[in-house]
Parts: sequence; structure tokens; C-alpha cells
Amino acid sequence: MSTPKVAVYRKINFNAAHKLYRKDWSTEKNKEVFGLCANENYHGHNYRLDVKVVGEIDPETGYVIDLTELKEILQTEVHNRFDHQNLNLDCLEFKDLNPTGENIVVVIYNLIRAKLDAKYTLQIRLYETERNYFEYPS
Ligand code: NI
Repeated sequence: MSTPKVAVYRKINFNAAHKLYRKDWSTEKNKEVFGLCANENYHGHNYRLDVKVVGEIDPETGYVIDLTELKEILQTEVHNRFDHQNLNLDCLEFKDLNPTGENIVVVIYNLIRAKLDAKYTLQIRLYETERNYFEYPS
């Protein structure tokens, strides 16, 4: 009998500011493409992140992953890094990368992936608002 694979989820929140723009575009072009999201003085979101880790149940512990370990990875790699930050100005990850939901979800995925044992499958979903959310890998 094969070992059952189970998905384990954890959610976290963080609040951050951003604006969408390209330095190499004019103000007009940025306003045209990114609309309100290009507003000069930034705006904030209450981001929510849903993290899904899939793996086999360890027969010894009965766990797929120790949720305390996952919690600590998310605290260090996501919350401590991005909460109450201005993504454009405070976070090196977005120095030359437009902090769209699409780019943020990929950046966060890579940060978590680097700390997670290769035996796990990881998928994350980033909610920018209740209605707008991003999933990676898709
Ligand atoms: Ni925004």
C-alpha cells in the first residue's frame, strides 16, 4: 500500500504598501497602463497568503509537516520581510520588479521553496483583495 499524500494548509496575513509603475515609462504612460495603482503616493493592501504543502504522512509522527516548522518559515520569510513595508521602497526583491500580485506571488513562492524540504510540493495563493487573487504554480 502506498503512503497517503495529504495537503496541509496554513494562512497568514501581512499589510504592505505599493504602487505599480515602471521607472522607464513616463508618468502619463504609467497612469494609462496601471490606473489608480500607479498613484504617486502609494496605497496599501491587506494581503492574505494561503500556503499548501503536499507530502506523504510520516508513519512515525503522523505528520506531513510539523505546522510549527511551516509557521516559522512563513513568519521569517514572508511576515518579517514584508509586513508594514513599502514593497517598492523597502524591499530589495522589488527594487527592479513591479510589485504586482503576479510578481509578489512568485517572489514569495521562491522564498518559501528555498526553506522547504524538496520532498514537499508547494503551491501558494496570494489574495490582494477578496476578489483578486493569484496562484503559483498555476
Ligand atoms: Ni495595489
